[in-house]
Amino acid sequence: MTYRQVIRRARKAVLGAALTAALTAGVLTGSATTSQAATQGPCDIYAAGNTPCVAAHSSTRALYGSYSGALYQVRRGTDGATRDIGVLSAGGYADAAAQDSFCAGTTCVITVVYDQSGKGNHLTQAPGGGAAGGPDNLANAFQAPVTVGGHKAYGVYVAPGTGYRNNHTNGIATGDQPEGMYAIFDGTHFNSGCCFDYGNAETSNNDDGNGTMEALYFGNSKAWGWGSGNGPWVMADLENGLFSGVNRGFNANDPSVSNRFLTAMLKGGPNQWALRGGDAQAGSLSTFYNGIRPTAGGYNPMKKQGAIILGIGGDNSKWAQGTFYEGVMTSGYPSDATENAVQANITAAGYTSGSTGIGTLTPGSRISLQATTAPCCTSHYLRHDDADSKVVISATNSASSGLDKADATWIVRAGLANSSCVSFESANSPGRFLRHFDYQLYLNTDNGGGDFAQDATFCPTQGNSGTGTSFRSVNFPSKFLRHYNYTAYVAANGGSNSWDSTTSWAADTSWTVARPWG
Ligand code: AHR
Repeated sequence: MTYRQVIRRARKAVLGAALTAALTAGVLTGSATTSQAATQGPCDIYAAGNTPCVAAHSSTRALYGSYSGALYQVRRGTDGATRDIGVLSAGGYADAAAQDSFCAGTTCVITVVYDQSGKGNHLTQAPGGGAAGGPDNLANAFQAPVTVGGHKAYGVYVAPGTGYRNNHTNGIATGDQPEGMYAIFDGTHFNSGCCFDYGNAETSNNDDGNGTMEALYFGNSKAWGWGSGNGPWVMADLENGLFSGVNRGFNANDPSVSNRFLTAMLKGGPNQWALRGGDAQAGSLSTFYNGIRPTAGGYNPMKKQGAIILGIGGDNSKWAQGTFYEGVMTSGYPSDATENAVQANITAAGYTSGSTGIGTLTPGSRISLQATTAPCCTSHYLRHDDADSKVVISATNSASSGLDKADATWIVRAGLANSSCVSFESANSPGRFLRHFDYQLYLNTDNGGGDFAQDATFCPTQGNSGTGTSFRSVNFPSKFLRHYNYTAYVAANGGSNSWDSTTSWAADTSWTVARPWG
C-alpha cells in the first residue's frame, strides 16, 4: 500500500461513527489512559467540529486515532541514509527505538516532518529567504527527548539557524480565509531572536507586507509586541509584527507562560482572531485575546499566502530557538469548544520531561560533575561562571546559593555529534551547551552547526585515574575534559598548552557523576 493509500484508508475509518463521538466522549473529560494509544486524536476532534486538519505534524505521536503512517524522517551522519520513523501502533506513539538503532554511534538530523492529514503538507529543510540565506539547518534528532504516554519519543529541537518550510501546500488558508492552529512547545526553550514560529507564511520566503502571515510565535522578543511580565509569550506573527493582542506593542492580557509543555493556539478569520494557551500536561486553556484584527494598517483583511513554516520567520529570519512536539493547522475557524476538547486530548496524551534519572549519564538525567583531584578540589564542581560564559570549577555545598547550585547542574543529552556519547546542556540556561573552543570550555548556544556539535560532544570512558568517569572530546580524541587552575579545558596528557601538563592530568580528567545540585 502506498503512503497516500494508508492515509486515505486511515482517514476514511476515522471519518465514520467515531467522529461524532469525539466531542462527547473521553476527550472532553480527558479520561483516556496515558499508557495506551489515543482512540481519538486532535484531528478527529477538529474534524468533528467541522474544522478539519489540513496539516498535522508531530514527531511524538499520531494525531488521528487511526493514523499508522510515518511521523518523520531522519538522516544519519555516517552514510547519509534516511529512515522513516513511524508509530508503535495505529493512533499511537513514535517508534523512538527505530531512531535509536538506526542512528546508533552517529548523529541524525530530522529531514522531514510528515503531514498526517493526507494533504501532503510535509515540512522539509527551509530554503534561504529575504532575511537570511539558506538552506537552513536541520534539527538534531536526539536533542529533545521526551516521554509521551509512557513512551520515549523525540521532539524537533530548533537551534538558531534551523528551519522547516513548505511553500507548495494544499488546503491551507489563503487571503482572509479562516483557519486555526495549535502547537505544543517546550516553554523553557526560547530566546528573543526572530522568530520561532509555526503556521501560515509567505510562499515567497520574503516579507511580503503586513497581513501576509498568520503563525504562532513563542519567545521573549519585544521587537514588536509583548505581554505582561518578562516573557516568554505566545503571540501571533502576522508579518511585520508579533501581536499579543489588538495593539501593536503591549497587551496586558497576554501572560508570560513557561510551562515545560505548553499548548499554544491561534485562530484567525475575517476581522477576528484569538490567541489561547495552557499547560499541555493538565488543565484548561486560557484566552489571551479574542477580538478584532489589529488596529494597525494592513491586517484587515488578511492576505495569507498559505506556506507553512516551523522555527523561522516568514522571511526566513532564523535567529530563534525553541522545541516543537506537535502541531496542526485547520481549515475553518475552530470553536472554543473544539479547542477545549483538543486541549483535553493533549493533556491526556501524557507529556513528561523524558528525564530517566538523576545522577546518571542517561540522556535526560540531571547531574553535577565533581572533581576528584585531592586535596585541592574534591569539594569542587564543574559550573559555568556568573557571566554564563566560561566554565570553571568551584566549591559547592548545601549552603551554596540556589544560583550557584543551578550553575553547577547539567542535563545530559545524547551527544550532538554522536548519539552514543553525551553533551551537557546547562540546567538554568536551556539551549546552551558545554563546548570547547581553542581547547577552553565555554557555555555557548547551540547554533545547529556541525562544528558546534563536535565541540560539544564527549564520550564517557573509565576514569583516567581509575576513579569515576573521564570524558573524551569526540573531535580531539587524545583530549579529555579537564580542570586546570580551576578553569575547564580539553587537555591531552602532555602537550603544548599549559593545561596539557602531565602533573595531576589523570585526576584532573576524572570526574564523579554526582546527584545534581539544582
Ligand atoms: O513579523 C515578524 C517577522 O518580521 C516575520 O516573521 C518576518 O518575516 C519579518 O522579519
